[in-house]
Amino acid sequence: NKNLIQIAIDGPAGSGKSTVAKKLAQVLGFIYLDTGAMYRTVTLKALRSQIDLNDPQALKAIVDTIAIDFDKDRVLMDREDCTEAIRQPEVSRNVSKVAMDVHVREVMVKQQQQIASNKNVIMDGRDIGTHVLPNADYKFFLVASAEERASRRLRELAAKGFETDLKTLTKEIELRDKLDSERACAPLAQASDAICIDTTTFNIEEVVNALLEIIQNRKVVSNA
Ligand code: CDP
Ligand code: CDP
Repeated sequence: NKNLIQIAIDGPAGSGKSTVAKKLAQVLGFIYLDTGAMYRTVTLKALRSQIDLNDPQALKAIVDTIAIDFDKDRVLMDREDCTEAIRQPEVSRNVSKVAMDVHVREVMVKQQQQIASNKNVIMDGRDIGTHVLPNADYKFFLVASAEERASRRLRELAAKGFETDLKTLTKEIELRDKLDSERACAPLAQASDAICIDTTTFNIEEVVNALLEIIQNRKVVSNA
């Protein structure tokens, strides 16, 4: 459908993708899809099932039967609200391993493209501009220094009562970036036609405004 508008936001962990995408979706009246939440949900189920995360057959059994649904701001795993559970550090530490699996990605990408097929969408992840929505109208790639991204995460986790420290978090984020960037299947990468924005010294509002300005100056969006 040529009248639909697609916005892709990619970048490493903690660069501000989901916060910014959510706000933009509100302003523009678009559907927001958090694709990272989908990989996290599969990971949560795999961890609970105590399978070997390196076993493709075991992962296949999980991803072929899991039902992932979004209900407003909530994420549902087989109808159970798992919104908080998928943000646990244990899920963060294991998700990149699960997201490396070719079949897992194939199933997730199909669902993502299905959701985008009949609505104006803003989607965030790692491979949206490169693989999921290669023809997106707008592609953004958000980056920020690893220290800044880790301190953002630290604040977030501290507010939820998780005990951790900046050094550990920085290491975990750097490892996840490395795994996500170096995997064979649809790695984290900036699409050649994406606009890169370094958010290290920007607050959320500044990033949202920078993106809005680009979108509105191109005058494609009018149905907010
Ligand atoms: O929010 P945060 O940046 O920590 O991560 P996320 O967006 O929730 O994504 C969690 C993990 O899912 C990433 O580290 C990737 O391993 C994987 N992912 C992916 O492979 N492809 C996507 N489109 C989105 C996430
Ligand atoms: O989705 P992604 O992992 O890229 O990042 P996020 O979950 O949107 O942002 C991680 C944390 O950084 C959140 O707590 C945001 O409120 C915060 N943040 C910030 O302080 N300044 C920004 N410019 C962007 C995000």
